[in-house]
Amino acid sequence: QPLEADSGEVSMNGYDHYMLKEIYEQPDALRNAMRGRLNDQDATAVFGGLNLTPQQLRGVERIILTGCGTSWHSALVGEYMIEELARIPVCVEYASELRYRNPPIENNTLVFGITQSGETADTLAALNETKRKGHRTLAICNVVGSSIAQASDGGVYLHAGPEIGVASTKAFTSQCCVLAMLALYFGRMRHMSFETGGRIIEDLRRLPATIEQALTCDAEVRRVAEKYQSATNVLYLGRRYNFPTALEGALKLKEISYIHAEGYPAAEMKHGPIALVDADTPSIFIMPRGTTYDKVLSNMEEVKARGGPVIAIASSDDTEIRKIADDVIMIPEAPEFLQPIVSVIPLQLLSYHIAVLRGCDVDKPRNLAKSVTVE
Ligand code: AGP
Repeated sequence: QPLEADSGEVSMNGYDHYMLKEIYEQPDALRNAMRGRLNDQDATAVFGGLNLTPQQLRGVERIILTGCGTSWHSALVGEYMIEELARIPVCVEYASELRYRNPPIENNTLVFGITQSGETADTLAALNETKRKGHRTLAICNVVGSSIAQASDGGVYLHAGPEIGVASTKAFTSQCCVLAMLALYFGRMRHMSFETGGRIIEDLRRLPATIEQALTCDAEVRRVAEKYQSATNVLYLGRRYNFPTALEGALKLKEISYIHAEGYPAAEMKHGPIALVDADTPSIFIMPRGTTYDKVLSNMEEVKARGGPVIAIASSDDTEIRKIADDVIMIPEAPEFLQPIVSVIPLQLLSYHIAVLRGCDVDKPRNLAKSVTVE
């Protein structure tokens, strides 16, 4: 029997919480983000609302991505994507810092504000400040007609549907997907070949089915959640594209389970955080196969040697990892630039299940609001 929402008009569709419903909506949210935006004929992406000419976009020499919280994490993913696929220098700024930092910003810089709600006060102020200085500002936003959508020169809507749970889930993966399409678009305006563009389109089209497959890890994640539900500190470690995922996994656990968690680039561990490792501090390694797999594996061995429990988020064909990790959650294969969208799925589910097991108010965690409209 479907449960109705206790407030608002959005049904929970039979799920116990909005957060869980929104986690499971991600394959469709990604389909909606991509609908009508992939162009096979030119092997590129198309966007209707950028409100800039191809000449203006071709002239972009630097991109600033700004946002808060989870949206700042997707900005970090976007930095890796745009620099790798489009070869445009990107800098990522906390909107709360950018608004007062007064950094020198070169001409031909394009500023993207990334926001689910479109109402975050710091993101709005950072965009207004850069716009006032004469820079072009664009929004990557979910809520149509929101303050940030209106204040910017143009932008891209996520079309993810309403996100009610305070913990952002489908907005994060949709933001990453839009950023991947922007990387494709800017790349194809520059050096990227037709063939590479076509391959990226195929990779993007496969993504919703890959996420459906990733969601089948739920039972295994629940088992891991039961085992570690009483932890008081958790480390999340990943490299390259999976470093922002580590930050996002830690934020999800903190905000809804009230467990202290920190995300780090895996190799930074030996510069301090490894001192925290003990038998009661689990470390979660986000380590699907890719460029830095061997390096992250040796980081994991270091933690294991110091008696810390280790959990691996690993590729489904990685059978060897079971010999080292205490627990393994398998995720399907994806090209590296799309891995954060896949590897975040078990981390969202882990924080959800731990929060439920600890009796926390999953959709409305203490001290937090869905939109932070004040400084
Ligand atoms: C995410 O789980 C948080 N609730 C929070 O960090 C959020 O992402 C941040 O407040 C930014 O919100 P926005 O995307 O609506 O701007």
